[in-house]
Amino acid sequence: MSVELKNLEKIIEEKITKARTLDELNAIRVEVFGKKGLITAHLKSLADLPEKDRKEKGKKINDLKNIVNSLLQNKNKNLSDTEITKKLQKEEIDITLTTRPYDQGKLNPITQTIAEVSTIFQKMGFETALGPDIEDDYHNFTALNIPPEHPARQLHDTFYLKGEKNKLLRTHTSPVQIRTLEKKKPPLKIIAPGRTYRADSDMTHTPMFHQIEGLYLDKNVNMGHLKGCIMDFCREFFEIDNLPVRFRPSFFPFTEPSAEIDIGCFKDKSQIKIGDGGSWLEIMGCGMVHDKVLKHCKVDTKKYQGFAFGVGVERLAMLKYGISDLRSFFDSDIKWLNNFGFSIFENIEKI
Ligand code: DAH
Repeated sequence: MSVELKNLEKIIEEKITKARTLDELNAIRVEVFGKKGLITAHLKSLADLPEKDRKEKGKKINDLKNIVNSLLQNKNKNLSDTEITKKLQKEEIDITLTTRPYDQGKLNPITQTIAEVSTIFQKMGFETALGPDIEDDYHNFTALNIPPEHPARQLHDTFYLKGEKNKLLRTHTSPVQIRTLEKKKPPLKIIAPGRTYRADSDMTHTPMFHQIEGLYLDKNVNMGHLKGCIMDFCREFFEIDNLPVRFRPSFFPFTEPSAEIDIGCFKDKSQIKIGDGGSWLEIMGCGMVHDKVLKHCKVDTKKYQGFAFGVGVERLAMLKYGISDLRSFFDSDIKWLNNFGFSIFENIEKI
């Protein structure tokens, strides 16, 4: 015979309280509500009761069902929570393990120098233009008034691409002048930073190096403008107000007249220092753009003329930051970089 209904609540509650796992709780659910369950037995017995008793008992069973259901639900939640906690405890991660060593890099002084030079020229209204590292003969030489057989071609120690008769690694950034003029009409003011290549390697040469080219074309641009622009640049870049800047006559096929620019320097113990000290250091080439170059680019030379300049980035960086070996820029030595490199934040402050 089944357990009396009035005792059932207490019995079931005790069972539920004692359950330790979700499996045990499930077994209790079956024991109560299953086919031969404790409550099911009472439900079945309803059929044999007279109408009025049936109603009364039916209500009691229903109330009990609700109570048991909510007890099961609460216990289920409790057990699930503790089971999850147990699982998490088992899977605990040991955060006391030491991390792997982490090297933080810095900006190469080349990157820093290009950013500094670009900023100075941008303030003067120059826009940045870029050209390809793989050039053709026409843009690297011919259009710049360096025809085949011109001795300047030998001086450039050019890397030619295997199997591509006409392709080479640009020996200077000057071809960006030509590429810009093919797309844009004057007036224009551009600087073109980038990699350049020559088959040369020793203490003072690397096969890959960097230059920044400048070009300014407009009506009535003269050598005075060139001189003012370059003097302002040198003084701002080296952060020396009275830095002596000298223009020395020179030759480049793509400018006429051409000049080389020297800045003042002096020897401090065995180090070369930039400033007013009676000696001179060559830092860049420049000149008024040759008519032949402008004509190659279909510029009306009666209307427009201007100046161009080209500067080696490594040289600027070595002089400003006291770096003595050119090759060290490209050694990828993290210790060297930590010493001579720049943090991104320093750079942002400067700009
Ligand atoms: N392209 C020259 C070189 O690589 C540098 C140069 C000199 C560029 C004079 C110029 C310039 O634009 O006017 O040696």
